Amino acid sequence: MQINKVAEGIYNVGVRDWNIRDFHGYSTYEGTTYNAFLIVDEKIILIDTVKKDFSDKLLDNIKKITDPKNIDMVISNHSEMDHSGAIPHIMHFIGEDKPVICSKAGKKNLEAHFGKDRLNLQIAESGSEMSTGSKTLSFLETKMLHWPDSMFTYAKEDKVLFSSDAFGQHYSGWASWDDQINEDEMMGHAKKYYANILLPFSGLVKKLIKDVEAMNLEIEKICPDHGVMFRKDPSKILNAYKEWCEQKPGKKAVIIYDSMWESTRKMAETIAEEIALRNIPVVSMNTRKWHRSDIITETMDAGAVILGSPTLNNNIFPALSDILTYMKGLKPKNKMGAAFGSYGWSGEAVGILNSYMTDLGFELIDDGIKVQYVPEEADLEKCRELGMKISDRLENI
Ligand code: FEO
Repeated sequence: MQINKVAEGIYNVGVRDWNIRDFHGYSTYEGTTYNAFLIVDEKIILIDTVKKDFSDKLLDNIKKITDPKNIDMVISNHSEMDHSGAIPHIMHFIGEDKPVICSKAGKKNLEAHFGKDRLNLQIAESGSEMSTGSKTLSFLETKMLHWPDSMFTYAKEDKVLFSSDAFGQHYSGWASWDDQINEDEMMGHAKKYYANILLPFSGLVKKLIKDVEAMNLEIEKICPDHGVMFRKDPSKILNAYKEWCEQKPGKKAVIIYDSMWESTRKMAETIAEEIALRNIPVVSMNTRKWHRSDIITETMDAGAVILGSPTLNNNIFPALSDILTYMKGLKPKNKMGAAFGSYGWSGEAVGILNSYMTDLGFELIDDGIKVQYVPEEADLEKCRELGMKISDRLENI
């Protein structure tokens, strides 16, 4: 990665992972970055590291600024391995006894990952400050955003917030800053990141944003650990988080289905076409054609989630089970739902999908449509009626 100057004496020395396409089950069509930040002052400090595989590349980047042995300490804002994996290698190179600053939970997590006495771990209390010479760093615990150990580091004089995973995007293009990338593209990556990583913690996101506002921190730049950094308009991403954490149902339907012999597909497309005819945004997603992380991204701002599955061996299709298991963990809120599907002789799928939606807290707006074998015109008419019912409800949101 080209070394990016963040502010006077602050550099992004992280790395681009151009070719990663699966980040623990999250589709990363444009790779990702592991941003790490070097502060060069009277003390030289590295904030976060990178994935273990990129340890040497991180050292090479640091060498473009200073001899890595000059680093006085490492701050670990987050212990997940994409940011901490290189810590042992870096410490071995710069001096095993140098401090690694982290939150209380960070100490526990780093010990669990690397051994109890391997690192000189020192706890930074939330709200505490540290001088690097001409700069003041302060620490803010952001528990469960998205791990218990997560914290932010704020560079007071430079007005830079190092936000760990928060405000990140899995994107590795040439752009390093928000003013170098198409805004819609950037916000699309940020939305996908929120939907797949932060959605279940939306209540905590809401509280954190309130807390940060109450602290009156002046924020000129936000530097997350993934993707582009924000200098043109940090409020853009802050406002997006404010909106996303509310989980307000949008005037939009998402149809998530699988099909065996095209019958359930015909039903899905008939429902979708009826909703589209009413000028309401709708996305129809076959679970074997769309990645679960894209499906959950579309689901995040949809007011209606319509699930379709044929009955297979008295059950739903496995690909539906995959997305529903994923969805259960991500806890989307404020959805209305309905189910549909074809069957041969027993027809349990619709009832099972209804149970899933009840467990997810969705408001069931229909008993569901079951069609034996192949839908006839009368069955497709029922699908149109369901499409109309969904549209009516969404129009009144
Ligand atoms: Fe980018 Fe939670 O690690």
